[in-house]
Amino acid sequence: MALWQDRWFAWIYPRTEPALERELGSLRRELWAAARGRTLLVGAGTGLDLAYVPASVTELTLVDPHPGLLATARARARRLSMPWRAVQGRGEALPVDDASQDTVVATLVLCSVEDPRRVLAEAHRVLRPGGALLALEHVASERPWERRLQGVLTGLWRHVAGGCRLDRPTDVWIAGDPGWSVKRRRRERHLGVPWVLVHAVRVDAERGHADR
Ligand SMILES: C[S@@+](CC[C@H](N)C(=O)[O-])C[C@H]1O[C@@H](n2cnc3c(N)ncnc32)[C@H](O)[C@@H]1O
Repeated sequence: MALWQDRWFAWIYPRTEPALERELGSLRRELWAAARGRTLLVGAGTGLDLAYVPASVTELTLVDPHPGLLATARARARRLSMPWRAVQGRGEALPVDDASQDTVVATLVLCSVEDPRRVLAEAHRVLRPGGALLALEHVASERPWERRLQGVLTGLWRHVAGGCRLDRPTDVWIAGDPGWSVKRRRRERHLGVPWVLVHAVRVDAERGHADR
């Protein structure tokens, strides 16, 4: 991403937080209620999720490539009661050992990473067998005309929204991957956020015991 895009995103994203919270706060709360044990938050951003981390999380690792956003997340993390660390890094190369995590959480991030399948493979690598991937993402519509529109809008949107793509079928990728066993998948339409045609999906998946 060009420097101006990075700086613009660091300025604009915190300003969208109230709208995001109104629209998706309750979904975040539900998502986090299932988090347990050693937990990794990939694409932590400014740490909006940290308000929802339950006491069942015993240790938290925050990962994000953006130093400015991560600094805000660090400031928010100081209120947490469990041990935590924030690492500047990418989802495509998570800075933790194989099978070391009980939970991996991704919120509105698989839309923005360069290689979402690589990030999902990394989540699988770092989770212990039976560990949970909890994802709250906006995804491609199931309606062909909406999907086409999302594709067209993405051409402009990704340049001003931190690389975010409106047209990724993230939930379909997870559900179609034999490495994950999907426990729950819920789609909701959210038209009130500043994006058009947002289909928020919550996916709770368990890491299978077989290697991928
Ligand atoms: C739309 S923001 C969401 C932030 C946060 N999860 C939330 O819900 O508020 C997308 C985040 O993904 C991060 N990101 C972009 N590319 C990434 C990558 N390759 N690996 C991990 N995070 C990435 C961005 O820096 C940004 O913080």
